[in-house]
Amino acid sequence: MNIDRRHFFASVGGAATVALMDPEAKADALEDYMIEQLSEQQQGRGQVAAKFPKAAEIEAQIDTRHYRRGAGSLFVNTKPGEKVNILQPMSAAPTFVEFFEKRFFTASEHCLQSANRAMKTGMSEEIILACLLHDTVQALMKVDHGYWGAQMYEPYVPAKTSFAIKYHQALRFYADTAAGYEYPDLYRNIFGEDYVPPPHIQADYKMLKNHKWYMEPRLVTVNDLYAFEPGVKVSLDPFREIVAKHFKQPKEGLGNDNSPVAHFWRSIARPDAPL
Ligand SMILES: [Fe+2]
Ligand SMILES: [Fe+2]
Repeated sequence: MNIDRRHFFASVGGAATVALMDPEAKADALEDYMIEQLSEQQQGRGQVAAKFPKAAEIEAQIDTRHYRRGAGSLFVNTKPGEKVNILQPMSAAPTFVEFFEKRFFTASEHCLQSANRAMKTGMSEEIILACLLHDTVQALMKVDHGYWGAQMYEPYVPAKTSFAIKYHQALRFYADTAAGYEYPDLYRNIFGEDYVPPPHIQADYKMLKNHKWYMEPRLVTVNDLYAFEPGVKVSLDPFREIVAKHFKQPKEGLGNDNSPVAHFWRSIARPDAPL
């Protein structure tokens, strides 16, 4: 990728700001900038030539950062020079909607856009719900987020919805042009152009190809691809009915219901607890 230095400096607040950054912060800022540029390019708006890193180059960046990329977004602010925020307090019996509004803010816009596309193209309510939820667990954990997300939602949503959340992660690595899913340039950039998915992803893909529910996670990936549109605002309102109908909200509140994943919800509610 060709970096336009002036554009990059302007995007982080000017040359003076860049001069004050340590090398780690500069590397982070550059990475954010490149991902943004690639995302624009993917939408056909940018003019950046495609030159993707190799997987080994991505690997070599690990010890240039002060955080690990798999950490949940509630727990770390990866933007150079910025701190984490004070979070809004949660009510005594929090609902999914409350978590969505107060804790899932990093992924909420992307998930809303994804659900919006699923709704507009007439997909099933299970899939619309899966799209709305599909990346929200990244507040807690980014690495293997399909598996974490499916586990977190399994006690509360239809089986097809948690299946779709679980396996969208694997299917994102495999194109299916007939279904409308191309391998994204964004992945060539964040994993490296020669990246080979780990064995559990390969095995799950092999299993899914012959599974009767293959299209459930596939449709999440189809909506995922179109869901990085800056400036498009979608509210939660069109989806409240689907959430009310399909999300089995525990009366004690998520995190207080003694489910096998109650601690997932508590950790998201109280990420500042030291232990
Ligand atoms: Fe995802
Ligand atoms: Fe996504």
